[in-house]
Amino acid sequence: MTTYFTMADYQETVAAIQARTDIAPKIGMILGSGLGPLAEAVENVTYISYNDLPHWPVSTVEGHSGRLVIGQLAGHDVIVMQGRSHFYEGYTMQQVGLPVRVMKLLGVETMIITNAAGGVNQSFSVGDIMLIDDHINLPGMIGQNPLFGPNLSEFGPRFPSMTFAYDPDLKQLARDVAAELELGMQSGVYMALSGPTYETIAEIRFLQAVGADAVGMSTTHEVVTAVHAGMRVLGFSGVTNICNIGDGDVPNHEEVIEAGKVIAPNLMKLLQTLLPRL
Ligand code: HPA
Repeated sequence: MTTYFTMADYQETVAAIQARTDIAPKIGMILGSGLGPLAEAVENVTYISYNDLPHWPVSTVEGHSGRLVIGQLAGHDVIVMQGRSHFYEGYTMQQVGLPVRVMKLLGVETMIITNAAGGVNQSFSVGDIMLIDDHINLPGMIGQNPLFGPNLSEFGPRFPSMTFAYDPDLKQLARDVAAELELGMQSGVYMALSGPTYETIAEIRFLQAVGADAVGMSTTHEVVTAVHAGMRVLGFSGVTNICNIGDGDVPNHEEVIEAGKVIAPNLMKLLQTLLPRL
């Protein structure tokens, strides 16, 4: 049976973090598979292992460190999730959404969410960064939405709009910065599936037909939770493989981690330039 977190549960996690740091971050970041090195630029750090936090879903996936990195980055106080947990690990959507609500209660107003994704759009290349212009939350559409259950109106309304889930001003800023840095950033629709299986060829054709440019196993539940709570969201996918529609490679987790090594420095450059302008 699903259990739903109460405000007291969230506050317990918040208290455990506040017992370890005085920093009140306004910017939160979630780092996907292979993108953990982005957290290495954070200064004056406090590390908190997910294992030490009540209610926190602990990541079991290789390439996800499983700790909070709290400190300063590009002039801002930040809280960074170095690794995330996923629905396919057996957590409920409510559990995987918990970190976002905890960050909200810590004072976070802007969430930067990253992931490793497969390129559904065949014009993409491995190593590309895709600005998430919009998403298709397939698990949410078929009954696995993190906002299921009693609505906690302290966070937001029962029926939140997702029309501008990805903040238009932040997207424009990201486009401007990418152009300045000549990063050749892609832009498109991220589609979430539950995983852990990669897609069949027929499923990839389905994703193409419904308008997805990139596919992954995370992100949309975090975005939904953040937008419900009134946070501004900016999202990036790192394209770690091109989805095979009949003549490409078979995807595997090792190549996802390897491609992250190319993507992380470029994403870092982008964020280091973008953050001071927030
Ligand atoms: N499919 C789903 N999730 C992914 C992929 C993929 O091809 N690559 C990285 N995450």
